[in-house]
Amino acid sequence: MLKQLEKLSAFIGNTPLMSLRNTRTPLYAKLEYNNFSGSSKDRAGYSIVYNGIKSGRINENTTIIASSSGNLAIAVASICKMLDLKFIPVIDPNINSAYEELLNLLSYKVVKITERDSTGGYLLTRIETVNKLHAATENSFIADQYGDPNNYKGYYGLSEEILRCPVPVEYVFVAVSSSGAITGISKSIKEKNPDIKIIGVDVEGSVIFNAPPVKRYISGIGASQVPPIIKNASIDDVVIVSQTDIIKGCFELLNEQVIFAGASSGAVYLAAKNYFNEKSYLIPPVSLLIFPDKGHTYLDTIYNKQWGEQLAAKLESATVA
Ligand SMILES: Cc1ncc(COP(=O)(O)O)c(C=O)c1O
Repeated sequence: MLKQLEKLSAFIGNTPLMSLRNTRTPLYAKLEYNNFSGSSKDRAGYSIVYNGIKSGRINENTTIIASSSGNLAIAVASICKMLDLKFIPVIDPNINSAYEELLNLLSYKVVKITERDSTGGYLLTRIETVNKLHAATENSFIADQYGDPNNYKGYYGLSEEILRCPVPVEYVFVAVSSSGAITGISKSIKEKNPDIKIIGVDVEGSVIFNAPPVKRYISGIGASQVPPIIKNASIDDVVIVSQTDIIKGCFELLNEQVIFAGASSGAVYLAAKNYFNEKSYLIPPVSLLIFPDKGHTYLDTIYNKQWGEQLAAKLESATVA
């Protein structure tokens, strides 16, 4: 299985670097949506499965279980399909319909929970379901992006790519969710070049960096629990972006750079552009932005004008109340 998986590694990583145009300070983007299954989570999924096999916790008959409705589930489902391994993603009603259909095509079985947990969300019910499935399924393995250090270790290769960039990168802007990307990038970059600044980008309402509580409607970025692996990260600064600004960032990215990307990319783009606005530089610093996924699965949300207006109204009324 490891040999088969190694063949797949040719299609994960070494993603294109794009110079963005007409920005006040030089911005470069790592187009991570060019990975095998369409997002940077391929790096995490590959690392978790590879190390699971290497350590003997995954064999040909193992069933892999994951609590994810997003890119991690698609990445692990694709890898499992390649290796003929059974994969069971545990999803919830917030899942994007395209992802649900794709997971149904790729997975052994999809478990969709519908019961809300004590916090009104689905996360705790999803985790409980994953644990029950794990206990009830002989020879099963949980692909745990929040707790497995192999998640962030999967991004060491991305750090190497950043350090090898033909431009002298001084700032790296990374959207945060499970924190695998920012933990892996910051930990390994700082070991080699501590001067490179790592800036985390999160959404309002996410608990990772203690942002004030707001109901979140945008997927991919943010989390409702502090991911345990983030304790290994070395983050210089954090930018919290509002949900309406994320939409703005996505449209600016589309109109200014002709890049049709997901919410996290829009958040990172807006954060990086604004970050240097008030400062003046003799030599403007060079920044690298990580763009994790494409915009197709956000067509019904971020890129739907009506959805955006409704979101703005909902957030406004919540503020007034
Ligand atoms: C849409 C999106 N946002 C953000 C991230 C960074 O996520 P994490 O902090 O879970 O590594 C990813 C990783 O692939 C992603 O796909």
